[in-house]
Amino acid sequence: MTPTDWQRLEDAARNACAHAYCPYSHFPVGAAVLTADGSIASGCNVESASFGLTVCAERNAIFRAVSEGARQIVAVALYTPTPAPVTPCGACRQVIAEFGGDASIRCICAGPGRAEYSLRDLLPNGFSLPAG
Ligand code: THU
Repeated sequence: MTPTDWQRLEDAARNACAHAYCPYSHFPVGAAVLTADGSIASGCNVESASFGLTVCAERNAIFRAVSEGARQIVAVALYTPTPAPVTPCGACRQVIAEFGGDASIRCICAGPGRAEYSLRDLLPNGFSLPAG
């Protein structure tokens, strides 16, 4: 990941956050993923009056990339308009693992703070189907 790659990814996550549909939590989130072929897909959280149907920004970004043909995710940027960065929820970590076992994840926010992790840091011993 070059600084330019990260800048593009951060911008896409920040822009996606503007489209968040979060009338219940009032907690907007934007995410963007960089795929192995160099393309970027972004997503925001989309909530439902049936709360459990809500889908996080990260999963919407990943499913969009996969729907467009991607199978390998290299990096994820997550943006929240909070004073400090937040990290992806557990469900999203498992979905990142599906397509990006070696992905880097950068969490940015409205403040100067930022955090960067590898997926392996965030999801040690994630689930995978046993062979056979
Ligand atoms: N949310 C995300 O979009 N990503 C996360 O990793 C954690 C939570 C969303 C879901 C819900 O719309 C709102 O944030 C509050 O939980």
